[in-house]
Amino acid sequence: MAIPKAELHIHIEGTLEPELAFHLAQRNNITLPYTDVEHLRSAYSFTDLQSFLDLYYRLMDVLRTPDDFHDLTTAYLQRAATQGVRHAEIFFDPQAHTNRGIPLDTVIQGITSALDAHHDISTDLILCFLRDRPAQEAMDTLHAARPHLHHITAVGLDSAEIGHPPTKFTEVFQAAADLGLRRVAHAGEEGPADYIWQALNHLDVERIDHGIRCLDDPTLLTHLATTQTPLTVCPLSNVRLRAVPTLADHPLPALMDAGLLVTVNSDDPSYFGGYVHDNYLALQHHLGLTNEDLRTLARNSFTASFLTPKRRDHLIAQVDAYVFP
Ligand code: ADE
Ligand code: ZN
Repeated sequence: MAIPKAELHIHIEGTLEPELAFHLAQRNNITLPYTDVEHLRSAYSFTDLQSFLDLYYRLMDVLRTPDDFHDLTTAYLQRAATQGVRHAEIFFDPQAHTNRGIPLDTVIQGITSALDAHHDISTDLILCFLRDRPAQEAMDTLHAARPHLHHITAVGLDSAEIGHPPTKFTEVFQAAADLGLRRVAHAGEEGPADYIWQALNHLDVERIDHGIRCLDDPTLLTHLATTQTPLTVCPLSNVRLRAVPTLADHPLPALMDAGLLVTVNSDDPSYFGGYVHDNYLALQHHLGLTNEDLRTLARNSFTASFLTPKRRDHLIAQVDAYVFP
């Protein structure tokens, strides 16, 4: 069994495996522009974040009914369990669905019915705003989510980063804070270190998603280490989207050496060639991380989570007691 861990950076729509995409397409009478699973999989070759997002949003067309979102979420939880995941904080992109006519109710009901039925993994939902859409649309989405806030722990910020700085969403994040929601944001994936500062100073986020570009700014690196602001790093994603040339070049060891609270996550595992434990193993294989490094990363994943201190400490004790095979 894989070491117990939390997954803090996972887009539920990014867990859509080609087989399930075809199954849902058939169920909903949709014709995908791919002949079969292998043909679709062959399209999973990306040059940057935008080239991935184009396919990611296109394939979401198969998600139409509560059952579709339920089945997607159930498939993720089953996979996650085999990867040692005990707690998952799951992103979803409401605007990617409401903008194509799928009601927010459908999305949230489908996802939460699967989360509630699965008892081995504790979960939180993080509602992400699409940063390449207008700020007013994000505000409208937050407003529309108000009847569902008992299902939602935090808000996040994702989609195409460059040209869409965090400050565009200062008012939306303030409104989310006023509603009692916690806050995270993608920053410094492709965008500059300054976007990380903006997310911290203007959106008041508790975690930075990706954040690898912090290495460009020594003052920021020191700040993140001092404040122990967690980074949710996604190594296989960074290589597939060419933010980093190869795994052997990945800055994760440098971030750990600088004293940051680093976690390892899968981002969009169906598209990037691995779920969360596959990311741990790839780091071990390509960067020589030791079993004790993996234990540190697993411990960090719970420390950086939104769990209550009681469950967090219970799960960290499981990490400490874990015996590697
Ligand atoms: N949405 C899904 N995956 C993403 C990523 N890696 N970066 C930004 N937005 C995303
Ligand atoms: Zn992401």
